[in-house]
Amino acid sequence: MRPLLALTTSAALAAALGGCKGEPLDAPWCGDAPDTGLPPTSESATWWVDIQPLVEQKCLRCHDEDAHAPLTFETYDQVAAAQALVRDAVLDRRMPPWLAAECCTDWFADFGLTDAERATLIGWIDAGAPEGDPAVTGDALPPIGGVSRVDLSIMMPEPYTPDPPDGTIDENRCFLLDWPVEEEVRVTGMAPRPGAREVVHHLIVASVGAADVAAIERRDADDEDAGFDCSGGLGEFPTATPLGGSLLGGDYPRGIGSVVPPGSRILLQIHYSTSSDDPPADQTSLDFRLDTTAVDASAIVIGNAAWLVGEGMRVPAGEADVGFWYQFQPLLFTGGKPVDLQGVTPHMHRYASRMRVLALKPDGSTTCLLEIPEWEFGWEQPYWFAEPIRFEPEDKLYLECRFDNSASNQPDGQEPREFAWGDNDQDMCAAFLSFTHVDP
Ligand code: HEC
Repeated sequence: MRPLLALTTSAALAAALGGCKGEPLDAPWCGDAPDTGLPPTSESATWWVDIQPLVEQKCLRCHDEDAHAPLTFETYDQVAAAQALVRDAVLDRRMPPWLAAECCTDWFADFGLTDAERATLIGWIDAGAPEGDPAVTGDALPPIGGVSRVDLSIMMPEPYTPDPPDGTIDENRCFLLDWPVEEEVRVTGMAPRPGAREVVHHLIVASVGAADVAAIERRDADDEDAGFDCSGGLGEFPTATPLGGSLLGGDYPRGIGSVVPPGSRILLQIHYSTSSDDPPADQTSLDFRLDTTAVDASAIVIGNAAWLVGEGMRVPAGEADVGFWYQFQPLLFTGGKPVDLQGVTPHMHRYASRMRVLALKPDGSTTCLLEIPEWEFGWEQPYWFAEPIRFEPEDKLYLECRFDNSASNQPDGQEPREFAWGDNDQDMCAAFLSFTHVDP
């Protein structure tokens, strides 16, 4: 993938060459369809046949003994003891933390639950969470996440002990890691290995080009501890190219690769979460799968350059639903040729409530590329499509973000105040579509 976060320049060009801000699209959000309830399930689901394989596939990577997640789901007794919490979190779609709506499209390495799986879990709990017979087990489901081959491991240069601001438990910290590869390679998969798993909540990894390294090194040097505060995410560094997010990591689909030129560095943003007075030090490593050839992915940056300046994206204090939308034909990115869309990475901060990305055909039909019914800044990650989605030169892209700046959606109970586009305590509205050329 080419730099994804170079919104300032590329979106400014896109806006100058035919971007326009119209009325919000009249098409409904797929997640707003009337709730028809959960599908019927077999009443005889048991832990050993139905639930254990599902929990192992969709929950255990984060809910094993060493993990940050508060509950351990390794045994029947552990899950049965937490059944009321599990029921609530699954019904409410808080868990697993997969933000993309299942009604939008099919995803690759999807660790969300389908409605049928939610129904099975909830139906099992409602039936008294029967254990069944340990001699009669269900088939294991294919694992999600993890890289198939580790060609390079790099580690944070020194340990860091999380130190959230007073009165809070969360901290976002960035670290600059060396990239010891002297030729141009493609990253075709990435998986993190958290050092102190009990404090590492989430992370995002990007490569950064030489143009940003000096600025990042200055930020790092200005802070006496390892790394530096980066609560606005990677959006402030124009050459940052996301290589992955989420603790699960994994191979990219379909042999896709992201070019990392020699001289690049790796920017690792970790969201630490801890309420301990004496948290452990963390020194996280990253495992990469590398190839010299791959299907190179590029990125379309979706956003309106007009939002970046002045009051372009003004969200008044107290307003509970303020929307921004933008549609354009991304000819500059695609060279006016058909392309295959491969995945999408959303980027907003804490005040955002929902987002959607659609492809619009000239005949008025739409294709859902991403819908996030309830945004959570803490769980930002790329979403790859299960199959590539063909995008023709005459098609348009549509992005819509909505923000909640009411009193009920303020960090740490602050008073609402007006904000606009910006880092940290401001917000953003952007998405990065990765694509490959059909006829390279
Ligand atoms: C990507 C990591 C990840 C995955 C996958 C995951 N969880 Fe969690 N879970 C967490 C973290 C971290 C927390 C702590 C609360 C937080 O930070 O949001 C949590 C908290 C919870 C809680 C307690 C808090 C609440 O919101 O009710 C429940 C219950 C839960 N998870 C159930 C599940 C179940 C069931 C699955 C699988 C179907 C699952 N989780 C999959 C990371 C994960």
